[in-house]
Amino acid sequence: MNQILIGAQWGDEGKGKMIDLLAERCDIVARFQGGNNAGHTVRAKARKFVLHLIPSGILHPRKVCVIGNGVVIDPEAFFEEIEMLQKSGVSVKGRLFISNQAHLIFPYHRLMDRLKEEQASRSTKIGTTKKGIGPCYGDKAARLGIRLADLGDPAYFKERLTHVLAEKNQILRRIFGHPGLSFGKIHRQYLEYGRRLSPFIRDTALYLYEAAHRGKRILFEGAQGTLLDVDHGTYPFVTSSNASVGGAISGTGVAPTLIDQIIGVVKAYTTRVGEGPFPTQFPPKLMEAIQTKGEEFGSTTGRPRRCGWFDAVIARHAARINGLDELAVMKLDVLSGLKRIKIGIAYRYQRKTLENYPAETPILEKCRVVYEEHPGWEEDLSGIRRWKDLPRNAKRYLKRLEELVGAPIKIISVGSEREETIFL
Ligand code: IMP
Repeated sequence: MNQILIGAQWGDEGKGKMIDLLAERCDIVARFQGGNNAGHTVRAKARKFVLHLIPSGILHPRKVCVIGNGVVIDPEAFFEEIEMLQKSGVSVKGRLFISNQAHLIFPYHRLMDRLKEEQASRSTKIGTTKKGIGPCYGDKAARLGIRLADLGDPAYFKERLTHVLAEKNQILRRIFGHPGLSFGKIHRQYLEYGRRLSPFIRDTALYLYEAAHRGKRILFEGAQGTLLDVDHGTYPFVTSSNASVGGAISGTGVAPTLIDQIIGVVKAYTTRVGEGPFPTQFPPKLMEAIQTKGEEFGSTTGRPRRCGWFDAVIARHAARINGLDELAVMKLDVLSGLKRIKIGIAYRYQRKTLENYPAETPILEKCRVVYEEHPGWEEDLSGIRRWKDLPRNAKRYLKRLEELVGAPIKIISVGSEREETIFL
């Protein structure tokens, strides 16, 4: 059984915990897009791990982890993460592979990401993680990227870097008023990274193909979420990769015919980090209360996440784009204690009711949300392990989400620990 796990909101849905749970029943965990902008939190070995680039499946000792061609690699971040894992007694030896076709993040990507954000006006600022993700994917599309495979041929690498850096330095000087970066330092540093990365580099598309045909089960670990997808999200306030299901195919080279199941992860409410429209955002007091109770602070940047009611319009959009077979609803416990719980079921804009997600950014920014109100529940849910033990109002709320989103709920999370989960 090959499964794809996708975020069905704006990221931070709780995919880390889900991957950790699902990894037990698979052989290989593969990341397919994004880079170290992601932050997957997993509680294991009585401690909290935050993984940014390496698939969360690495915490399971016998699983093989693959970083696919669609992921962008910052070697410095990669080695930092390996070191963190090793210090915690997690060995990656012989079970972590990176695609030779994955693109590298260079210092000029990080620098440009930061300078662009700093020099942006309020309306053009994206609120990126400043990890160089957008500029790196930009170069990939513009055919100015440098891939892991290119590091293996020093003469070719030198030629590529010379050409690309000359262009970057012109942009840095003329547009950003920056003195530019030195070729020698980057060249030496990345040749060294190339040597250190070589034991991890593979043709991972071929590896996954052969593994799937030998009956190995692959779990595809999505990062960010559908509404941050460069094609299907709230453009331009998105990340620069395909965080929805198509990314799993193009970002690993595994054919869609090999996929058996697509699971969408949502929070029982909605959050978003960075700029961009968020129709169901809470008023400030409630936002603060949920931020604190739900520990809603970005695991990569530490920024507070904006919080809001469950938005069924965006979740339905995600269910359709991804063809979700089932849903995992996370952090239901955080809603305990609210007297009334709202669900955004449609948007109103210029006297029209929109039930389907609109692509127009100004509509998303200005629309009024049509809400449905449900009675809340008081009980602490963290000790509940069976559907039938959930408070009646919690069950009603979940049933309504299922109906509005159009995919059956199969997993409910009521706390951050592995055991704090209800399987249906
Ligand atoms: P970038 O991916 O760093 O370019 O950031 C683009 C947008 O995606 C910003 O709004 C970020 O806050 C958001 N973003 C990127 N990665 C994540 C993530 O893992 N979780 C939530 N938001 C993210």
